[in-house]
Amino acid sequence: MQQDIERILIDRHTIANRVRELAEQITADFHEKDELPEITIVPILTGSFIFVADLIRDLPLRMQIRLISVSSYPGKATTAQEAQIGSDLDDLPASLAGSHVLLVDDILDSGQTIKLVSEILSAKNPASLKTCVLLRKQREAAMQQPVDYVAFDIPDEFVVGYGLDYDDYYRNLPDIVVLKSDVVDDA
Ligand code: IMP
Ligand code: MG
Repeated sequence: MQQDIERILIDRHTIANRVRELAEQITADFHEKDELPEITIVPILTGSFIFVADLIRDLPLRMQIRLISVSSYPGKATTAQEAQIGSDLDDLPASLAGSHVLLVDDILDSGQTIKLVSEILSAKNPASLKTCVLLRKQREAAMQQPVDYVAFDIPDEFVVGYGLDYDDYYRNLPDIVVLKSDVVDDA
């Protein structure tokens, strides 16, 4: 695994510091809305699982977690395909009236995942809907999709680690890295 790494883009300490900082900002923003805010976190699986696990432990707010899965990078794809929504979206409550929802994803690339899930959540009439991503790629499609919280803006490169995968591997790497080109066969 280590021999497949071309370079570390964001190391674990930088990630931890920034996640803590972002959590403070989110907490302050929710407190501004409501003295005792109650929120619903909607993490998009699988890529956001490590980010969300770290983030929520720095959010001292009363919350419920509703996991959903969407995949737009099946298998060895390193460019976005059409987003596929998992059936667990059906498990979301029919109405989110009264809930302050925070949608969390790993990376904003083509923007279609966040856009699709935001539309589905908005239709459930939440009290508010905020979006949070760990990474945002510096490409036009990503910059055009509005999001409320971004931990890091990164170059338009394929990255893995800290939850992000290539063919479902490398999610356990603690740093966010770029793989060697001979490892990634963009089929
Ligand atoms: P979007 O719908 O194109 O914005 O893509 C978002 C999803 O594609 C993310 O939730 C990831 O699962 C996946 N993705 C996009 N870029 C990368 C990458 O560089 N590495 C790993 N997965 C990625
Ligand atoms: Mg994903």
